[in-house]
Amino acid sequence: MEQTFAVIKPDAFAAGHAGKILARIYEAGFSVVGLKKIWLSETQAGGFYHVHQDKPFFSDLTSFMSSGPCLVMVLEAPDAILKWREMMGATDPAAAAAGTLRKDFGTSIGRNATHGSDAAETAAFEINYFFAGLELI
Ligand code: TYD
Repeated sequence: MEQTFAVIKPDAFAAGHAGKILARIYEAGFSVVGLKKIWLSETQAGGFYHVHQDKPFFSDLTSFMSSGPCLVMVLEAPDAILKWREMMGATDPAAAAAGTLRKDFGTSIGRNATHGSDAAETAAFEINYFFAGLELI
């Protein structure tokens, strides 16, 4: 079993897509071992995305991620990291495959509905950034 960190971002949450995305998560066979609704500050969003701090899109990204509530989750399954990345699809919804979450619920590269860790080390950092061990059941 492997764990990954996932987010239903403020765009998808505000548009009312959280229930549909959660249904797909359960249908795909993930265990949701952690789940909470949070509203990040811009500083907290910057800490989460610190690897992108020198990128030109960083301030748009942190502003968007702090623009409203989101759902943060820890998902567990065999190969959870890759499985969730495949369910999300490409970063840019316009390039994402049919049937992926970003294709169905994203509206631009910046407003792409969901986040998923890209590797084991980032999953460990991101899970620990948002959850205490006692919150993972
Ligand atoms: P990145 O880690 O490259 O993508 P992913 O979320 O697929 O792992 O980028 C993090 C987020 O930054 C991405 O989900 C959306 C935003 N972003 C932009 O707004 N513009 C860009 O050109 C890129 C590459 C990312």
